[in-house]
Amino acid sequence: MGLSPPIMWKEGRIFTLDRGPGRSVYGESIIVVNGNSYREWVPWRSKLSALIKKTDMTFPGKGNILYLGAAQGTTVSHISDIMEEGTIYAVEFSETAFRKLTYLARERNNIVPILEDAFHPERFKMVVPPVDILYQDVSQKEQLKLFLLNLRTFLKRGGLGILMLKSRSVDVTARPADIYREVSTGLKENNLDIEVFIELDPFSVDHAAFVVKRK
Ligand SMILES: C[S@@+](CC[C@H](N)C(=O)[O-])C[C@H]1O[C@@H](n2cnc3c(N)ncnc32)[C@H](O)[C@@H]1O
Repeated sequence: MGLSPPIMWKEGRIFTLDRGPGRSVYGESIIVVNGNSYREWVPWRSKLSALIKKTDMTFPGKGNILYLGAAQGTTVSHISDIMEEGTIYAVEFSETAFRKLTYLARERNNIVPILEDAFHPERFKMVVPPVDILYQDVSQKEQLKLFLLNLRTFLKRGGLGILMLKSRSVDVTARPADIYREVSTGLKENNLDIEVFIELDPFSVDHAAFVVKRK
């Protein structure tokens, strides 16, 4: 990538160096800096952008990633921009979203789209190697259970787990703070150190991000 950083901050906005054909993926703006195209990483559209904006966290540019709940690939497209080495294994079970994800994957060389239910890792275990990062963003009741299942199956020791939790999907009647406390306890009981916990409001209301490390 030479001297062009894969992630760039400009006037409080985040941009990623475009590895695609120079087109906007979801309506984000594109700017050109020193002859390179950068796509705006919109925190209102991507929880990972919101996490980085709120914490200034760095995202590794190398390694294999298992991404659960890829949808059409909004966030996947930016991770694809950032990754200088490694592959994103992007799992999605909605056929409509998956079709758009495959268009994105055709234009980039580091995305493997997988049409599967993330609750069945045994169905994609033959395709996905042990990974350095597990990323989950699914609106399901059993988000913690799903995260732990895939973490045990795929995440290397010392690897990073990022759980984007939608509290209303766990229990629409509960207070988000109570759900975050329960999930936090569940992660610790499973021997995971929580490196970052942050609520994603105002970008994603009633969502929080947990970043853990597998020992
Ligand atoms: C909030 S959207 C994901 C947005 C996406 N992560 C992004 O930032 O671009 C949640 C997605 O998870 C998918 N999903 C929910 N349950 C799933 C499961 N069990 N297996 C695979 N995908 C699932 C949904 O179809 C939906 O596309």
